[in-house]
Amino acid sequence: MSLLNKTIANKTVAILGYGNQGRAHALNLRDSGVKVIIGSRPGKSFNQALEDRFAPMSIASAISEADVLMWLLPDQEMPQIYQEHIELIKPTHTIGFAHGFCYHFNLISKSTPLQYFIAAPKGSGFSLRRAYEKGESLPGVFALSDKDDSLKLLVTSYLEAIGCKKFIFETNFKEETECDLFGEQAVLCGGLIELIQQSYKILIENGHSEEMAFFETCFEAKLILELLLEHGLSGMSDKISPTAFYGGHLAGKRLINQNVKDELKKIFTEIQNGTFAKNWMTEVQTGMKSLQAAKKEVKESPLQAIFVKCLGIK
Ligand SMILES: NC(=O)c1ccc[n+]([C@@H]2O[C@H](COP(=O)([O-])OP(=O)(O)OC[C@H]3O[C@@H](n4cnc5c(N)ncnc54)[C@H](OP(=O)(O)O)[C@@H]3O)[C@@H](O)[C@H]2O)c1
Repeated sequence: MSLLNKTIANKTVAILGYGNQGRAHALNLRDSGVKVIIGSRPGKSFNQALEDRFAPMSIASAISEADVLMWLLPDQEMPQIYQEHIELIKPTHTIGFAHGFCYHFNLISKSTPLQYFIAAPKGSGFSLRRAYEKGESLPGVFALSDKDDSLKLLVTSYLEAIGCKKFIFETNFKEETECDLFGEQAVLCGGLIELIQQSYKILIENGHSEEMAFFETCFEAKLILELLLEHGLSGMSDKISPTAFYGGHLAGKRLINQNVKDELKKIFTEIQNGTFAKNWMTEVQTGMKSLQAAKKEVKESPLQAIFVKCLGIK
């Protein structure tokens, strides 16, 4: 069989889970001419798939009808659902994920000669679909369980079909998992958000208006990140005022002191040695009480209230 027959265009892909990533992958694959079927439980996602003119079916049926199984369920739910369907998974299947959490931390059982891969766009499902519709591209990473040209061709053609065309690079399961978890904890969903929250609070405690505090500590973060990604670190530094650069450079070094650096190392170690994964799965198995408390805290935080007031976002 020629290598061309091994691209995603010649396969049936089952998208298992039709949420944030699942919907974007499915729509983009279909628009790229790939045969896609949707495996979903009845409910919100199932109805969304119907609305999007798919013919969703149970996860079991989708597994039975497909060549490539793309597991796009929440990482914390995936081990149980995977195990429930293990008997249906055949050696002819190729197993894909958008994040290596379950594979890397051995939360799903693996067997030879099955081949596994990660195909992860660097962005949310929403950004992936929006970029595709505009004819633009998101960066994408992939990892392969085996050094195999056919598998590589399948996965790179999958990434291309979902709209990751310009900057595709290879990683491995360990690296993707550790870097993704560390990035979201240290910066994206942890460090950055807490810094914004605490800085907003300081301005309010010192008598400044909610609107001023919001725009200075939160809204403008987006604008500075856009400058950074469009012009690089040095280019961004040249585009802000000398006062902003001088003050920011000094304050940044004070804030990210040795304590913070030590804590970052600890956070990374806990990800790498599996402590975080173990704690998270325990949290899931015991009813996610801490997660619900954290969500409540965010919902009731002063910063959340200002989104409603300034931007009308609820
Ligand atoms: N979100 C991102 O930006 C992003 C980025 C890169 C990679 N990823 C990875 O992509 C994967 C999917 O994440 P996601 O954010 O797309 O998930 P999500 O938006 O939470 O979607 C989850 C889907 O799984 C279904 N589901 C949830 N629990 C289920 C259960 N017990 N049985 C059957 N179906 C169930 C949901 O259906 P219902 O509507 O019925 O609940 C929904 O269709 C994860 O591996 C994640 O790490 C996510």
